[in-house]
Amino acid sequence: MKVGFVGLGKLGLPTALAMESRGHRVMGCDPAPEVASILRSRKLTYREAGAQKLLKESRLGLISMSEVARSSDIIFVTIQTPHQPRFEGVSRLPAERRDFDYGPLKAGLKSLSRQIERLGQDRIVVIVSTVLPGTIRREILPALGPHSKACYNPFFIAMGTAIADFLDPEFTLFGVSDLRAADTAERFYRTIHSAPFYRTSIENAELIKVVYNTFISTKIAFANTVMELCHKLPGADADAVLDALKLCRERIISGKYLSGGMGDGGACHPRDNIALSHLSRKLGLSFDWFEAVMKQREKGTEWLADLVERHAAGRDILILGKSFKAESSLLAGSPALLLAAILKERGLKTRMWDPYVDETSAAPSGRPFCYLIGAMHPDFRSFPFERGSVVLDPWRYIAACSGVEVVGVGKGPSHG
Ligand SMILES: NC(=O)c1ccc[n+]([C@@H]2O[C@H](COP(=O)([O-])OP(=O)(O)OC[C@H]3O[C@@H](n4cnc5c(N)ncnc54)[C@H](O)[C@@H]3O)[C@@H](O)[C@H]2O)c1
Repeated sequence: MKVGFVGLGKLGLPTALAMESRGHRVMGCDPAPEVASILRSRKLTYREAGAQKLLKESRLGLISMSEVARSSDIIFVTIQTPHQPRFEGVSRLPAERRDFDYGPLKAGLKSLSRQIERLGQDRIVVIVSTVLPGTIRREILPALGPHSKACYNPFFIAMGTAIADFLDPEFTLFGVSDLRAADTAERFYRTIHSAPFYRTSIENAELIKVVYNTFISTKIAFANTVMELCHKLPGADADAVLDALKLCRERIISGKYLSGGMGDGGACHPRDNIALSHLSRKLGLSFDWFEAVMKQREKGTEWLADLVERHAAGRDILILGKSFKAESSLLAGSPALLLAAILKERGLKTRMWDPYVDETSAAPSGRPFCYLIGAMHPDFRSFPFERGSVVLDPWRYIAACSGVEVVGVGKGPSHG
């Protein structure tokens, strides 16, 4: 395919070279003198494994933006979305929070779109730059003409290994706003690798890109908490502890526990975290990670209580499921009990029923309720919800049923 690049910086140039190495004809535009100098001298000014060799053999060259628009079947946009240095993590966390600067990206896309409209032919515009969720629909799509068929395709590459990461990724993430553009892009990616091509909405793709990074940050923060704990605990060794966790490919290094729902529960987890918070204070850890975990559980449950309060609108509240997890009758550490306690604290009339706990009694009935599914028991799939009720489902497994409003927690509102 004929591939165009708008932006040949630290992400654009190595990935353009990677695409060229798979037999595509790649050209790009970039106003930066440094990029022109790299392409003229065929000498990279930064370290990027394998890039120097590919650059030497490459026919990649600079062309104008209008030429990129004219001669490309697919155009990748890898323009910077910078932050001020005080948001880069090399100084203390500022009190203020800011979004990225989308000025350069918007300006570049507007010029590209102008060139595409001048041509009067459709072009696939694949935006790669990192943005916060909501940005593409709010700020980018309205600035593009009808011939720009835009998609969002952030790359999961790390500096230094960009080429290998691009050629052999875990998956390709593709936020779709134009189906034909996505089909063409998928055919293109099949020439590069056989990893899954994950199609989703633009907003999901924006979010996946940034929470992927945050997940890595979370793992690092956790490992460093364990390191500090071990440093202060006589006889402990951080590597021995973390190496043991690396063996746990069933529950820890896996997709398990990675679905939204009620908070963590059971006879061990909450109380272990609270005990570790005690140890953390005793040893003087720099940050009480374990308290933070329990605070998130409590705040998240308060937020669910807000949802219940908002949707109840005068209806009685009925929490279906008391146990701490699906298909269990055990109540220890149950997040549903915590939710009930918070609702009662607010003076809201709240009842609970669980088919595995209250085996001899029937579920309350006879009027519309605001139901909250507190434990993901399979029985609730066929539960006879009263007409006129609302069902809040933190697990998103209850099917729509007539006369009942089913609210899947975690599904955002549709675009107005
Ligand atoms: N570097 C990474 O590892 C990495 C990984 C994933 C995502 N990203 C994201 O990709 C984007 C680009 O990152 P980068 O590190 O390559 O930035 P960079 O600053 O190295 O490169 C951006 C390039 O775009 C060029 N550019 C700006 N305006 C242009 C225009 N109108 N026309 C043509 N070219 C233009 C700039 O001159 C520059 O060379 C950012 O949003 C970044 O967050 C980067």
